[in-house]
Amino acid sequence: MTDLQQELARVLLSEEEIQMRIKEMAAQITADYEGVKRIYMVGVLKGAFMFMADLARHLRINHVVDFIAVSSYGRKGAESGEVRLLMDLREPITGEHVLIVEDIVDSGKTIHYLHEIFSGRQPASLKTTAFVQKEREHIPVSVDYLGFTIPDVWVVGYGLDYAERFRTLPYVAELKKEVVTK
Ligand code: PRP
Repeated sequence: MTDLQQELARVLLSEEEIQMRIKEMAAQITADYEGVKRIYMVGVLKGAFMFMADLARHLRINHVVDFIAVSSYGRKGAESGEVRLLMDLREPITGEHVLIVEDIVDSGKTIHYLHEIFSGRQPASLKTTAFVQKEREHIPVSVDYLGFTIPDVWVVGYGLDYAERFRTLPYVAELKKEVVTK
């Protein structure tokens, strides 16, 4: 057992489950976008980098990838945080079929914020895919393609971190409570 594994309570989503579900999602997205020139995929850094890579690899339709970085003060604590744009897209998205690729919907603030700013840029269409969504109250947001619903616990792996650790695990696990509170 590695040091990292000793801090995990249980595996919530195995690598196999994740890969199988992502193939299904990619097939659904490929079918839904049939006939469009290309999809403009927007990965939300840092968390979405793994989901973005795996999803894009399985798409059977033209697509380009771009990334955006946002941050929120107080998200992990008081939940009062405003979302701030740290890094914008490289290109304008006017007339593009934009697909926001998010790792997790927690409070929903990030997705809500991105919808607000992107819809003002006149994309041809705007949809969202999220790898996981927590079972908890959140701002009403529309997630067009959702990978998994997970319990409202601290999760890590597959892009999700705790203080920048655990991010590159190929599975999703719940962190032991004592790790979060220490
Ligand atoms: C996390 C995650 C989502 C966001 C979701 O980002 O990657 O983007 O929070 O939370 P919300 O629904 O409450 O807005 P974080 O700020 O931890 O940055 P990171 O992806 O760089 O770790």
